Amino acid sequence: MAVNDKYITLNDGRKIPQLALGTWNNVDSENTVNSVYEAIKIGYRHIDTAAIYKNEEEVGRGIKKAIDEGIVKREDLFVTTKLWGTQQRMSQQAIKQSLARLGLDYVDLYLIHWPVALKSRTIDPSDPKNYLTIPMKPDEPDVRDIDINWTFVDTYLTLQHLQREGLTKSIGVSNFSINNLKNLFKHPLFKVKPAVNQVEVHPLFPQDELIEFCKSEGIVIEAYSPLGASDSPILKNETLIEIAKKLNIDVAQVCISWALQRGYVVLPKSSKVDRIRRNFENLVELSDEDFKVVSDLKEKYGEKRFVEPDFTPFKVFE
Ligand SMILES: NC(=O)c1ccc[n+]([C@@H]2O[C@H](COP(=O)([O-])OP(=O)(O)OC[C@H]3O[C@@H](n4cnc5c(N)ncnc54)[C@H](OP(=O)(O)O)[C@@H]3O)[C@@H](O)[C@H]2O)c1
Repeated sequence: MAVNDKYITLNDGRKIPQLALGTWNNVDSENTVNSVYEAIKIGYRHIDTAAIYKNEEEVGRGIKKAIDEGIVKREDLFVTTKLWGTQQRMSQQAIKQSLARLGLDYVDLYLIHWPVALKSRTIDPSDPKNYLTIPMKPDEPDVRDIDINWTFVDTYLTLQHLQREGLTKSIGVSNFSINNLKNLFKHPLFKVKPAVNQVEVHPLFPQDELIEFCKSEGIVIEAYSPLGASDSPILKNETLIEIAKKLNIDVAQVCISWALQRGYVVLPKSSKVDRIRRNFENLVELSDEDFKVVSDLKEKYGEKRFVEPDFTPFKVFE
């Protein structure tokens, strides 16, 4: 089996392709359609989007084009989207809006994007994209307006219904710490373990403790920002450049190969077809020695989290 063709079995029995295309920050809409379409043509079977990326329509058009051309069947694709904070009190409406934008009857995986509900600031409720904002406090424009009367546990219980209704095949969480997962598990109405926890993981932020905990609970980790997000210092790291040169691949592919070898789902994003192709085709099995060098990178350069929005007073990463 090729490195890019592996699946992991989720705790609900479904299979998830280990390598996905990330789509955050793909700002040019026609480019998003084309990237998704080309990615599927190249062989990607797993696409990661979110309501707040505001590109579900374009992702859906890319998928439709590939299906219409007979490149793939819907059932062979794995599509993930995420519930944004302003819609945590109305997840059924939110997933139906996402499905309408994607042009799909169901998603394979629906995630709570962040464990924090935000106050809804919609101006026109008839416009489904109107909820997708980052509301700031009216009197403090730099502070996110948190809905402190609604918890991620309340939201998760509603996701269990969405799965039963068939709107999503699997349910999961994103940006959940060990403590927040433990709090979720304690609720008497909690029944369905999250299939995945999508969190930041890369060589400068390997998250060993969280990965170990999720593994012990049967929750699959999905590594977001596996290259260190945009303008990543990881891609300019001299140690990784040396390994990449030796293997005749990009640093990005060293990071993706390392992640696949660690055994979780990995979601590299690119808006450029040649990179999308190389990030799929130029993956390797790292030697024990190279694997160790990448794993030890944080000792040399220090740990670094790149995605850390401020949800004060809620502590996301305690
Ligand atoms: N759940 C969450 O809260 C959350 C948060 C962040 C991300 N995510 C998901 O995870 C995905 C990946 O994370 P990310 O978008 O933050 O960043 P990433 O995948 O770590 O890195 C993306 C950056 O790397 C560049 N890149 C990609 N392949 C490259 C290559 N071969 N050579 C050089 N540069 C390359 C891309 O530029 P170009 O596009 O110009 O190629 C882009 O600037 C997201 O798209 C999203 O789906 C989820």
